[in-house]
Amino acid sequence: MSQKAPRQFFQPLAAGAPMPMRDLPVRLERMIQFVPAHLDKIRAKVPNMADQCDVILGNLEDAIPADAKEAARAGVIEMAGMLDWQAKGIGLWARVNCLNSPWFLDDVTQLVMQAGKQLDVLMIPKVEGPWDIHYVDQFVAQLEAKAGLTRPILLHAILETAEGVARVEEIALASPRMQGISLGPADLAASRKMKTTRVGGGHPFYRVIEDPREDAAPRQSAQQDLWHYTIARMVDACVMAGINPFYGPFTDIADADACEQQFRNAFLLGCVGTWTLHPSQIAIAKKVFSPDPGEVKFARRVLAAIPDGAGVAMLDGKMQDDATWKQAKVICDLADQVAAKDPDMAAAYAE
Ligand code: GLV
Ligand code: MG
Repeated sequence: MSQKAPRQFFQPLAAGAPMPMRDLPVRLERMIQFVPAHLDKIRAKVPNMADQCDVILGNLEDAIPADAKEAARAGVIEMAGMLDWQAKGIGLWARVNCLNSPWFLDDVTQLVMQAGKQLDVLMIPKVEGPWDIHYVDQFVAQLEAKAGLTRPILLHAILETAEGVARVEEIALASPRMQGISLGPADLAASRKMKTTRVGGGHPFYRVIEDPREDAAPRQSAQQDLWHYTIARMVDACVMAGINPFYGPFTDIADADACEQQFRNAFLLGCVGTWTLHPSQIAIAKKVFSPDPGEVKFARRVLAAIPDGAGVAMLDGKMQDDATWKQAKVICDLADQVAAKDPDMAAAYAE
């Protein structure tokens, strides 16, 4: 009996903490724009950037130098006061330092106490098992009670160790505070001892080659996807738990084509969004994680052809049934959500 009793699962973990959410808020989270919050020049751009993004995340962990950790923390607290994130419906997240770092305790304490009203999600790096989530869950509940918060702050785990992947289902199910999981291909590659030096995307040496040809002509080969297994497994764990799967970083900022392909593979496999590390990746994420207008048009025809969602119909020579109706519904529901936020996409979907 290692699971909590169902009735206990949704009880607050500290007296005075808000009730855990039964359902996640329905929100577009196509891109999580990372902000190095210690840099004044970049922080000043946050209000403008926020208008183009679904989620802004203040980063405190890797990529922030040790001597700038406190400045980054103060920067996120300042960002929380820059706009009314809750009223505007733009997500404000923070990636804190990992649990065994010297900064974790103060990161979480100060963020919840000083920015808790605006903060939606704490991203927790290097989560290895449900025990990590249980610890943060209880700790955040105590802080929420102390801060008098009425809305719970959610948790997002980064999947970036071999142990975390081996336990991804347990992590996804660890708490009603879980909002989602992101793939962290850089740390995960290191943890697995993959022989790579890049972050996300394909690899020129990871390929499948065709059989030898009788005419001895050069054999064709094609790059394969190093991340397919992990993303698919993460998607299943998240969907089982009713939380959201995300792709993580793609760091070859100059290679927009490869970035788009990596994002698209994640989208097609079920991810709802991705990290964006540079403003140039925001438009790529928006394009990829908003369903394609042609697909939406076809999906709407499927729904119209089978109005009650049961039975069979032929459309352009393709058989449609209850299962394709459900696929079409996923696309149409997402298109409605995107259209409600984005007038340009609403116009494209109306054509
Ligand atoms: C992200 O944190 C990664 O390690 O890829
Ligand atoms: Mg990492």
